[in-house]
Amino acid sequence: MIVLILINILYGYTFQNYTSMRANMVENQIISRGITHQATIAAMQKVPRHMYVPDEFQTFAYDDRPLPIGNNQTISQPYIVAYMTEQLNLKPSDKVLEIGTGSGYQAAILAEIVNKVFTIEIIKPLGQRAATTLKNEGYTNVFCRIGDGYHGWKEQQPFDAIIITASPPEVPEALFNQLSDKGQLIAPVEENGQQFLVLYTKSKNKIKSKRLLAVRFVPFTRDKQ
Ligand SMILES: C[S@@+](CC[C@H](N)C(=O)[O-])C[C@H]1O[C@@H](n2cnc3c(N)ncnc32)[C@H](O)[C@@H]1O
Repeated sequence: MIVLILINILYGYTFQNYTSMRANMVENQIISRGITHQATIAAMQKVPRHMYVPDEFQTFAYDDRPLPIGNNQTISQPYIVAYMTEQLNLKPSDKVLEIGTGSGYQAAILAEIVNKVFTIEIIKPLGQRAATTLKNEGYTNVFCRIGDGYHGWKEQQPFDAIIITASPPEVPEALFNQLSDKGQLIAPVEENGQQFLVLYTKSKNKIKSKRLLAVRFVPFTRDKQ
């Protein structure tokens, strides 16, 4: 632990400049891997990821990996956040639902691009902390709720896009129902012990799916019934 703290302090002294760390992250992890959606790139450039991780991990916030955020949960790797955001092909007028607020970082990225973001977190302390972070960072277009995202956010339907950031065995039907016509949903779905990002598109009440990358997310959990 002491060694970790010393490394962290040293690392902190060496790389105080989070802005340049973020610029490097965008160049070397996001653009160089093929992300081209300009609004996604701009959001990744703007949002201070280090504000969304626990203090002891701040200096690692721009590393190419997920990080612990407490309660056995993680903030996703920056590239995966950018990739999922790009796939949704968002417009400024869109209304988006996120299941799995976690640190609030993905919600902040979305809030830079679209009009309104609704986000649900099942673990109360995480949801509360994320809501505080998002408020402190000045977001007035992110609406946080604590609860089981399995049921979606019925009062706010329909959503132009839905993003699930924990891995379910299948996408809950309620979420497809709350998607608008031509809406898209992206989720890390588990199949035979492997997870893949799947992009679903709704058209005239039919759902088409497209399998994308292999990934590793924390499991989608359920409130006790
Ligand atoms: C990989 S983390 C999310 C990362 C997050 N999007 C971020 O930017 O930090 C997945 C989150 O989904 C939450 N989660 C899992 N099952 C859920 C459910 N049924 N409803 C809402 N949140 C859920 C977990 O508690 C965890 O915080």
